[in-house]
Amino acid sequence: MKRKAIYPGTFDPITNGHSDIVKRAAKLFEHVIVAVAARSSKTPVFTLEKRVELATAVLADLGNVTVRGFEGLLAEFAKQCDTQVIVRGLRAVSDFEYEFQMAGMNRTLIPDIETIFLTPATEYTYISSSLVREIAALGGPIDDFVHPFVRVALCQKRC
Ligand code: COA
Repeated sequence: MKRKAIYPGTFDPITNGHSDIVKRAAKLFEHVIVAVAARSSKTPVFTLEKRVELATAVLADLGNVTVRGFEGLLAEFAKQCDTQVIVRGLRAVSDFEYEFQMAGMNRTLIPDIETIFLTPATEYTYISSSLVREIAALGGPIDDFVHPFVRVALCQKRC
């Protein structure tokens, strides 16, 4: 039995959809590490420190969840964390191709690694960090999509 899992992402910023996946993973594993990537294919709006700070604040109620930032390859970081299970969220079929490639790549890099996919609650299937940022930048309401800490951080970015 694998007891620890890692949930990686850019989390720029963490949304209610991400939190939903973390809560589901936290029920399945003894310990979940939310791994915030310093670099991904995106150029984040929030610094790594801020993304880690926001995710830590949002997930503070979950006793078996730790938030950590990481540089470099996810597969290497998973090895350092002594876990072979990567959790990813699948919102729609459109997520699948990219996720399938990443899972394959990570398994090629470290053969012991398995990626498992969880689906969020229906109301979160259409949320993405970039859409939330865009709505916030244009002054729209984002209360249904992010935790109040994140809303404040997005408002500060706008001001
Ligand atoms: N609810 C809401 N939104 C969700 C979601 C959910 N359950 N699951 C994904 N998303 C959204 C995110 O908000 C994000 O939206 P955006 O594109 O508008 O920002 C998008 O779906 C995907 O984001 P996320 O889940 O954070 O993943 P990512 O694609 O940003 O992360 C990494 C990719 C960080 C895991 C990957 O780049 C990585 O491993 N990097 C480290 C370097 C490495 O090892 N590279 C080789 C990889 S094989």
